[in-house]
Order: sequence, then C-alpha cells, then structure tokens
Amino acid sequence: MAKKNSIQRVIKKMAASEDAIHNTSANDSFDQVLTRARMGRRGFLKGSSSLAAASMLGMGLAFLADAVNHKGQVAKAADLSLNFNPVAKSIADTLIVPEGYTARVLLATGDPIKSNVTAYKNNGTDNDFNVRAGDHHDAMQYFGLSRDGNGWDSNNSDRALLCINHEVCEDLGFVHPNGPTDYGSESTAARPPIEIDKEVAAHGITIVEIAKQGSTYQINQDSRYNRRITGATVFEISGPARRSPMLATAFSPNGEQTRGTLNNCGHGYTPWGTFLSGEENWAGYFHRREEDTALTEKELASFKRYGISNATSGRYNWSRAGASDNTDLYRRWDASKTGSSADQDFRNVANTFGWVVEIDPFNANATPKKRTALGRMAHEGAWPAKVVAGQPLVFYTGDDARNEYVYKFVSAEAWDPRDATGGLAVGDKYLDNGTLYAAKFNDDGTGEWLPLTLSNPTIANYSDYAFADEADVLINARIAADVAGATKMDRPEWGGVNPVNGEVYFTLTNNVSGSNGRGVTTPLDAANPRYYADVKDDTTKGNVNGHVIRWRESGNDPAATTFSWDVYLFGSQADAEADVNLSGLTDENDFSSPDGIWFSEAMPGLLWIQTDDGYYTDTTNCMMLAALPGSVGDGEAKMVTNKAVPTNADGDQMVKTYVGQAASPTVLRRFLVGPRDCEITGITESPDGKAIFVNIQHPGENSESATDPTQFTSHWPDGGNARPRSATVIITRNDGGTIAI
Ligand code: FEO
Ligand code: CA
Ligand code: CA
Ligand code: CA
Repeated sequence: MAKKNSIQRVIKKMAASEDAIHNTSANDSFDQVLTRARMGRRGFLKGSSSLAAASMLGMGLAFLADAVNHKGQVAKAADLSLNFNPVAKSIADTLIVPEGYTARVLLATGDPIKSNVTAYKNNGTDNDFNVRAGDHHDAMQYFGLSRDGNGWDSNNSDRALLCINHEVCEDLGFVHPNGPTDYGSESTAARPPIEIDKEVAAHGITIVEIAKQGSTYQINQDSRYNRRITGATVFEISGPARRSPMLATAFSPNGEQTRGTLNNCGHGYTPWGTFLSGEENWAGYFHRREEDTALTEKELASFKRYGISNATSGRYNWSRAGASDNTDLYRRWDASKTGSSADQDFRNVANTFGWVVEIDPFNANATPKKRTALGRMAHEGAWPAKVVAGQPLVFYTGDDARNEYVYKFVSAEAWDPRDATGGLAVGDKYLDNGTLYAAKFNDDGTGEWLPLTLSNPTIANYSDYAFADEADVLINARIAADVAGATKMDRPEWGGVNPVNGEVYFTLTNNVSGSNGRGVTTPLDAANPRYYADVKDDTTKGNVNGHVIRWRESGNDPAATTFSWDVYLFGSQADAEADVNLSGLTDENDFSSPDGIWFSEAMPGLLWIQTDDGYYTDTTNCMMLAALPGSVGDGEAKMVTNKAVPTNADGDQMVKTYVGQAASPTVLRRFLVGPRDCEITGITESPDGKAIFVNIQHPGENSESATDPTQFTSHWPDGGNARPRSATVIITRNDGGTIAI
C-alpha cells in the first residue's frame, strides 16, 4: 500500500512539473529541405581540425587564446588538465568527493540565517522560514563583498554574499510535524494556514553573508544583507508587460506588482552585480475551478499552453485556507473569475509568474523585479554571453518542459562599463528593452534565432491567437515561439557560455514518456536524435539519458541571428550500445540526465556538469562531473540508428547528427556522487578557484513517509534517524589547491 501511495505521489508530481507536455503546436522540428540547401557550411567545417575550422570561419586564433570574462578580466585559456581521481558510481547514502578533498555542509534547509533564531529542530515544529534557509536548494551565485562591506568586489575570496534558490518545498511534508494536511489538486478540503504559510516561505531565495575561516567559510548571522525572498515577497513587474491589463489583479489593479516568486531553479548574474533567478514550474500552483466557463478563448488557449489546470485546486491547495482565513493572500492562488472585473479577483495572477526575476543582493531594501522582456515560460535561468563594451548584452534562457524551446534576449542598449554598479536601476536600462528570440536548430548543423515580436509577420498575422500587443507576445512567449517555428527540444535545463571561446552550452535533460515525448509524439531531428529503451527497462523509451548541445554564434557575435551547433555530449550508461553511447562514455564518466551546467571563471575552460536523474539511479546516485570541452566541430557527423520509432512510418529511423569529440576520462571525469535520492544542482566558486559551493537537493525524495525514519531513503546530512534535508556544501582541497585542476 505504501508503495502504491509512493507511485501515485511520483505520478502526481510528474504531472505537475516539468515532465508534463503542453506543447501541442504543429512544429515538428524537422527542417525544411530548402533550409538545408541554403545553409551548407557544416560541410566544410567537418573534416577540419577545430583550430583550422575556427580560423577559416574568421574567429581568429587570438580569440581562442584569450577571453574577457563577465568580470572584465582577461582569462587565459591555459592548458588545463583534470587533476583528481575519478569518483566511482555509488548508491550509498553518502556524499562522495575525490580523495584529497573535503565537503562540509554550510547551510541546510531550516538553518537560521539570523543570530537570534533557534537551531532547526528538523521535526516539523519550526515555522519561521522567513529567517531560515528555504527548501530544495538549487542554483546559487557567489558575489564577493568589498573589503569595506559595501558593494560588489568580484575578486574577494574572503567575504561574499551567497544567493541560493529554493526550488520547491518537498512534497512529503518533512517541514510539518506529521506530513501535510489535504494536499493536492484532487482535494477540496481546506488546509491549515500555518502549513501554507510555511510552504510559501520555504520557497524563494536565501541571501547570506559568508566569511572565510581557515580552509572553509562560515555564515555571518549578524550580516545586514541576510534575508529571505519568498512566495509572498512583493515584486515590481518591469519591462514591456508592466501595466498590461493582462497582469491586473486585485492586489495590483494596474498590473505593476505581484506577490512572490516560485520554483526558483537555475540562475544567472548580471555585469552590474545582481542575481537573476528563473521561475520554473509555477503553473501547477494555480488553478481555475472547473465550473468556471467564463474564460475567453484566448485565456483558455494560454492556460492550456502553460498548463494551468482546471482542477478545483492547485498543486498544494494553497488557495484553500478555509473559512478561518479567506484573505487574498490565499485566494491569490485561485485564477478563477470570481469578480466582475480583473481588479476584483486573481484571474490574471498566473500571468505574473514564469519570469526571470532580478534581485540586488547588495541592497536589502530594493524591491526585486520581474523582467518581462525575457518572456514568460518555465524559466530555468538566464546566462549572460561574454560582456563587451559597446555591444548589446545577451542572456540565454530555456523553457524546461518536454518539447519546449531555447531562447535568447538581446538588449537594445549597448553595454557601458560605467554601469557596473547601480543595482536594479541598471537592470531597467538593459533588461527592460530588447528582443527575445527562440532557437531553430536546422538538421544541417546550422541554426537561426527567430524574433518573438509583432514585427515578425508570422506572429503579427497569427489568427488562432491574436496577440494584442508586445506585452501579450511576451506573456505568451510559448505561443509566439510555436508560431515562429522554433525547434522542440528534449527539455532545456541550464545554459552556460564558455569564457574561452564564447560558445554556448545547454543541457537537454531527457525526453521520455510511455505515451508521448521524443520519438513518440515528437519526431526525431538532428539536434534531438535519439529514441531508445532504457538499459534496465524496456518500457522506458525516448531520449532516456539526455544530451548537451552547444553552438557558436555566427562571427562570434552573441547578438547574431544565425549559429552553428553540435552535440557536445550524449548522456548514456557506459554499457549501452554504440548508437546510444555516442560520446563513448566509460565507467569513469558515464552519466544520465544532465541538468546543471556551469563554466568556472577562476579556471577558464573548466566545465561542471550536474545530474538530476531517475533512469540510471539503480546504479548510481546523481553526480557532478568536471569537463574540459573543446569547441563546436571538434567531433564528427554520425548516423544514429533508432529502432521502432513510433513517429516514423517505417519503424527504424536513421538520423544524422553532429557529435563532439569522444569523452575520454582525460576530458570528462566524475568528481562527486550525492546521497540517495538527491539531485545535484547549483554550483558557484570562490574567485581564487579554491572552494566550490554545491547544492544537494532533496536527498531521500522517494521516502515512503515523512515521519517514520525507517521509511526514509536518506538521512543526509544529519545521519542517524534524521529527516533528510537539502543543503549547500563547500568543497575544498585538503592541500589548499585549486579545485579539479
Ligand atoms: Fe528545476 Fe528544470 O529544473
Ligand atoms: Ca534543474
Ligand atoms: Ca531537472
Ligand atoms: Ca529534482
């Protein structure tokens, strides 16, 4: 019985999260023959060495040798080599790092961030999450603090602010004494407000000051910077959708504000020292009641495309605090039309979520902002391209759901280095005006950026959804990208830009389902070329283990509208057949479901890859790998044989794709394996490269009970009978050297 409940919980969770599919657009992600004929550069790129090819493309060898990182420092692309023994796969309930390294917990769920707060009891009785670390630690960023304690010093390895995303509050209810009361979208019962308040407060972002002590770091609980941003914090809505009637609510009738940020997953940071955070799987928190038939055709189309359910409650039933408390703090999760106009209810509240948010960690009084120019989707994060004075700023961003798209934002304003301080006002200048694009990956290894604006005639003339204005295009960016013809991808997770050569990497975590997904409802294409069965389970099919795609913008100009791409790495078990293990992974580096990806700035050229996996977890817990990637075109074209592909009338389907150089343990090596049932996500570093900070998210997430320790699958990090907790760990080398290199 317990098992059945657990399976039901997992299914419910999948339906409510990124695993759900809401892209039913006709984009089949196959490129037209015409496009292939027009853009044939791939032909000559193949067969050349990467340097020769780069030179022929006009990159210049100097570019490969030097790069200006986001801090304006010139980074030397040194001859890096990985300098640690690979960690073996493991299913132990332990965090494993290489020999000669030490991992210490810095901040776990519930830990105090202020000195007057009691130690977390971890038994569900602590309610004050406004002054404790939130749950489900995700992406994070180290911002060096200036020596005088005022403002950003990107080179300070001794003192810093750490901004940590908290993606969700786990479903089992470890934060409550006896699990949650009346969860879920099937429930019509009221929930105790105390539970809702705690869950809302466990979402969001934590900002804490840390200081170096000996070989590690401690939290300064007395810092004036320490604060929580939660699912109830007031946000300004900024950019083109500010004051749109589509954002009007009873809380902010003119559409200028909203309360809360949710599912803060991946991140980014700006060259003016602010933190960016992506609102990912927010849709499930909202609902409209089934009896509500008052939505317009456009509203219904939008709800469907974004997955707002027509159930009687949202994912956590937050709208039902019961007769004892029916204030709009709870009512706001219900997107039904209950009033006679938008200023009387929360029919538009879901339009105020799904944005990239900007937070100034150095100004605790600054109201954070939702940057609507970057579009509304299940945002993973927003990663800046190389910053160049006099050029526009570019941020890459992705929509993490199956068959969704990769996007980029190009600012209207050119970067002025004098704006390197100034907080959110500088954000207004660069992040509120610009062009949002969606990516089209052609089958010949080229690609195009499709502008999502009414100046694009296919969008302006779309009759199935008549966009009212540019705000509508951004609020319904998914629909605009459908119409523009973007390529459906295998769940875009994190992105990153290689400081050595400006190339952009994106993880495509997987795309599997019994009844739909890659190869089942969405045809294979060159950029998403695999359909196969999981080695252990013949019924799990699709892109089981995910891949990492990368591209080089034409002319190395981040604002370019064309690019060339290849697949840097295919996730796979080492023992899978050659058509699956296309990157030649071995026992030292095989992985599944890449999610977090992050380029070191201290060690330009070093890439970290993290996994959030459910398919190889019979063999190993989730992990983190260190990599030394080459560049686009350093591998070869390959024909992949896929067997019995449902979308292909002929069954077996050969797909031509472009694979980067084989990943020997020399250039890809497992660095860390997490405790049981966790995800490894989020990594940042001290500027001297001698400490990395890594998040261990939801250890024990498949536990059968929140209260019976014998039913926990993990007790990490506290051990014994403790409830498992997410946590930030600091990893240092025992000899004080740089990490991994
Ligand atoms: Fe929250 Fe897409 O991972
Ligand atoms: Ca993720
Ligand atoms: Ca994931
Ligand atoms: Ca997860």
